[in-house]
Order: sequence, then C-alpha cells, then structure tokens
Amino acid sequence: MASLAFLALWIASSLVRALALLAGDAGLTASLSGTDWELYLPSLGFIGLMIMGMAQQFIPLYSGREMWSGRGALLQIAVSVAGVVLLLMDQPLLELVGLALWLLGTLLFLLWILMTIRSKKLPVRPQGKHPEFRSMDVLGIPMTSAAVLYLIAASVGFLLASPSDAPLVPLVADQWFSFFHLYTLGFIVLMVFGVGFHLFPRFTDTVPNLRAAKAVTAMALPGPALVALTMPFLGSPSLEFVFGIFAVFEAVAVVLFAVVVLDLWNRSAHRRPASAFNAVAGLWLILGVAFASLFGIAPQLSLEWVPAHGWINLLGFAGFEILGVTHEVLPPFTSMGLKVSRGVTRVDFALANIGLGAVVLSYAATIFGVPFAGDVLAVAGFSVLLVLVTLYAAGTVYALFGIVHRRPRT
Ligand code: HEM
Repeated sequence: MASLAFLALWIASSLVRALALLAGDAGLTASLSGTDWELYLPSLGFIGLMIMGMAQQFIPLYSGREMWSGRGALLQIAVSVAGVVLLLMDQPLLELVGLALWLLGTLLFLLWILMTIRSKKLPVRPQGKHPEFRSMDVLGIPMTSAAVLYLIAASVGFLLASPSDAPLVPLVADQWFSFFHLYTLGFIVLMVFGVGFHLFPRFTDTVPNLRAAKAVTAMALPGPALVALTMPFLGSPSLEFVFGIFAVFEAVAVVLFAVVVLDLWNRSAHRRPASAFNAVAGLWLILGVAFASLFGIAPQLSLEWVPAHGWINLLGFAGFEILGVTHEVLPPFTSMGLKVSRGVTRVDFALANIGLGAVVLSYAATIFGVPFAGDVLAVAGFSVLLVLVTLYAAGTVYALFGIVHRRPRT
C-alpha cells in the first residue's frame, strides 16, 4: 500500500513538474526536482518498499519456513516508510534522519530474513511440476542474498553522503552515483532476477533454459560492484574505457536475463495477460542498458540521455516487473471476475507502454532541439501514466480488500 502511494506521488509530482515547466514556473519546477523527488522517491519509496513487501510474502513460501514475526515485518516497513517520508521534506536534518531510518529499515529487513529462514519448517514446500524449477530456486538464493548485502552497502553510502548541502563524508557524496548503482543494479536488479527465477517459470508453467540462467547468475553477482567501482573513471580520458568494459559486461548479463524470460513467455502454453509486463520489461531493460553501455563507450555523445535511461530502467524495467508480478498474484478487481480482471490488466499494459513511450520521446524531442514538443509530450506521457496508476492502485486495493474481508474470523 505504501509503495503504491509512493508510485502515485512519483507520477503526480512528475506531471506537476512537467506542467510547471510548460508554464515557465521555475520555483515549482525546482522544488519538485533533485535527488529526493526524482530518484529516492521512485527507487526507495516505490520500488524498494514493493520489493520488501513481496519478499515478506515470498521468502517464507519459497524457503519452506514459517514467517518469523508479523509484527517485526510491519515494524520494518513502518521504519522504511517513515525514512522515505522524511526524505521528501526537503530539510537537511530530516534528510539525514530519513536516510538513517532507511538504513535501520534495511538492517531490520536482513534480521527478519535471517530469523525467517531459521524458523520452523513448513509441512509442504511448493516445488512446482518440473525438477528444473527447483534448480532455478537454487540459482535464485545467491542472487537474493547478495541483493540484501548490496542494499545495505548502498544505504550506508546514502547516509554518509547526506545531507546533500553538507555531507557527513564528502568523498562518498562525490561518488553518490556509484552507491546509487549498488542499489539499482545490486539490490533492484538482483532481487528481480532472483525472485523472477522462482516465479516466472511457475507463472508461465514452462521449463527455463538452465544454462543461460547459470550464466546470468555468474555475471549478475559481481557486475554491480564492478560497475560501481569503475563509475568514478567516467570523465577521465585514460581510464574511461575500464568503466565501458564493465558497463558492457553488466549489459550482457541483463540481456541474457531478458532473453531467458522472453523465451519462457514465447514457449508458454499458459500465457496470462500479466506475463506481458514481465516479457516487455526485458525489452525496456535492454534499451536502458544499451544507453548505459553508450555512457561507457561514447560518454560525450550519450550522457544527455541519462534522465531517459533513468525512466526506462526505473519504470520500464523495475516498474514493469512489479506490475507483472502484482497483476499476476493480485489480479485487479479479482472479485468482479476473470473477464474484468484480465481486461483491466490489458488496459494497464497498454497505458504503461504508451505513457512511458511518450516520456522517452519527450527527452528525444528536447535533445534533438524541439523543446516545446518535448514539454508537451512529457505532460501527455505523465497524464497517461497517472491514469494507469489510478486504475492499477484501485484494482490492487480492491483485490487486497477482497482477500482481507474473505479471511475467516478466528
Ligand atoms: C549496465 C548497467 C548500468 C550502467 C553502466 C549505468 C550507468 C549510469 C550512468 C553512467 C549514469 C549517469 C551518472 C552520472 O550522471 O554521473 C546513470 C544514471 C542513472 N541510472 Fe544507471 N546504469 C546502469 C543500469 C541502471 C539500472 C538497472 C537502473 C535502474 C533500475 C539505473 C538507474 C539510473 C538512474 C535513475 C540514473 C539517474 C537518472 C537521472 O539523473 O535522471 N541504471 N547510470
């Protein structure tokens, strides 16, 4: 629920910013710009909290253990939500406290996972029909474990780099983008890959290509650290190529993952509409890391595409993966029947692609020298995305309340 609220806030604030830009209101544009609203809000508030919420559902299920503590899980989410809310207040002290709370939330998340995987065994463990599903589960374990460690490392960096006007450790603040990519590539991408290895073969009821999945695991585990460590070389003519090599290395891992998922989707005889989100997330991700590789290979020609790279990866990849999983496990307006639920999923899918496509084109128009068309496209794209978010949030909340109300009273 908190993640959905942060998603709505992200899209609504982006629309207000685009409208302010069109109207020439520099003050409003400035107050909704910057790291907190543009980067922390979507990556910690929407994506981070949704991953944590899903992990609390899926970790007990797939480790075959009982959930350790419901109250502990709720406390962890409450601390993390408070952290993000404080971050958005635009006050140096609150930024510091917000990031300290966020770090505390990540440590509680680690504690909750450790206690859960040591708790009582569940009598039945969902293996799936095929033995290959179990092999994918095993590959997912190092990825989700590494993801949590990357999350903590990144969150320590965020705290040390704050407050932005007088950082605790200026050296860390100078390398903020490295820590941010420990978060995006290390936490978000690895978590999506690890959890996706569990879920996507089951969603599509199809046996995955295990050799390709093993190659993804081997490359995706060290990739984030290699990209983050060499990102400071960007801007140094003699060392820039080292970053380029690791950017391409990570991009290859990502493309392989997208191919594994697209192949599952293509061969599936039980494809449901929600799975289209997960398949197309791979295509957006390929575009996102294609830009990233160009940042390494030809930075002078490509760095103006950084904001487009951000939107493509945050919404097109991570957001679409989340939309795919939530539309699958919590189909919108469930109690209104399969026809409504699947119809709304298809509408959400169309709106998400049209909206994001317009936002990416708005950057292209501005870069190619037609800024007014860029501003108009941005307003159009964010408006479509706001309709999507409203429909998605309404459908998901409706489905959630249906489940809560149907639970027998004890
Ligand atoms: C091959 C993998 C990747 C590489 C090499 C890469 C590289 C970069 C670089 C060089 C920047 C600009 C840094 C600066 O301005 O100093 C950047 C920005 C950014 N990246 Fe990545 N990136 C990758 C993947 C990702 C992924 C998977 C995500 C999200 C899930 C992501 C999200 C972002 C965001 C949000 C920004 C900032 C956009 C803005 O300033 O508006 N990146 N990336």
